[in-house]
Amino acid sequence: MFLRNFWYVAACDHEVSRKPFGRMILGEPIVLFRKQDGAPVALEDRCVHRHLPLSMGKAVGDHLQCHYHGLRYDCTGQCVKVPGQNTIPPSARVKAYPVVERYHWLWIWMGDPARADPGQITDFHWLDDPNWGAKGSYLHVRANWQLIVDNLLDLTHLAFVHESTIGNAALVENATVKVTRSPNNVVVTRWIIDAPAPPTFVKAGGFTTHVDRWQIIDFVPPAFLRLDVGCTPTGTGAPQGRRVNGINMRNLNAITPETETTSHYFWGQAHDWDVNNGALTDMLVEQITTAFLEDVAVFEAQQRNMTMLPNAPQVDINADAGLIQARRILERIHKEELAAAALPASPAGSAGVPAALYSEEDAGKMPAFPGP
Ligand code: FES
Ligand SMILES: [Fe+2]
Repeated sequence: MFLRNFWYVAACDHEVSRKPFGRMILGEPIVLFRKQDGAPVALEDRCVHRHLPLSMGKAVGDHLQCHYHGLRYDCTGQCVKVPGQNTIPPSARVKAYPVVERYHWLWIWMGDPARADPGQITDFHWLDDPNWGAKGSYLHVRANWQLIVDNLLDLTHLAFVHESTIGNAALVENATVKVTRSPNNVVVTRWIIDAPAPPTFVKAGGFTTHVDRWQIIDFVPPAFLRLDVGCTPTGTGAPQGRRVNGINMRNLNAITPETETTSHYFWGQAHDWDVNNGALTDMLVEQITTAFLEDVAVFEAQQRNMTMLPNAPQVDINADAGLIQARRILERIHKEELAAAALPASPAGSAGVPAALYSEEDAGKMPAFPGP
């Protein structure tokens, strides 16, 4: 299941340069490159001539040139040059995708281009806000994107999967949890009061006493999870909003489906103290990377079992409250998209017709093959 009418993160800003970069998103091959002024472009990564990935080609000015026979495309996907030929059939074009650079990420719109509104891009300002120290990262995951969403909406797994970094038993045994839902949002709030700090928090905040710890998970579709996490020494009033002498972080996650069984996992970590201390940011990212690699091992093992036996029954537990709400939202949006797609759309014959790459006029100039 893919949801199309959304902005997804296609790449980190540093991944995309003048050199074309190929990436599969929602099962579609995409090529990204930058124009001469640095603006990003996203096109279908498949030449209309003989389907070579355009990511094997090169940028020539603001055009992209196929590596095989040199067809050139402009930023709208229109073929503008066929070597040795004067006329270019207007139907010789590849798909172009709206793309926007924001928060050190390149965002791509995978749905109806007429509906692409950059105002709908999910807020991840912590990644480039001078009031926060932050760093982003990327993991390739051989598992369906919804397994990652599930994982981030139920943080009881920290006690088991991440006991050496960000987890401890208090998370499950001594926590109060509240789940709230609106039409396109789920928030899971978990408080752990008067409990030992987990290893990563001790490293970052030097806590010697028990702490009051919060995890506030904010989910918006299709797969954005912004986690407000931190702790203060116990009794200082954090549950009432007085976050003092503690640590305050955001763990920021944007998951982009690659295929039904593989995902791009873009994430970042932000902290609001000592914001220019690059060594601190690196240490936090390193600790979370250790934890996330533990998660990836879980997702990939789940996916292997699910591929082996699809639709085997599952049992739900109380800790699933948040992720069940999120799945209901995703299923509703999927049904809405399917219903909209079933409506009569563009006039018949406008799609799926292969483009002839030569015209009668050019054909007359082509060298004749010698006879047998
Ligand atoms: S395959 Fe691209 S020009 Fe021939
Ligand atoms: Fe995890």
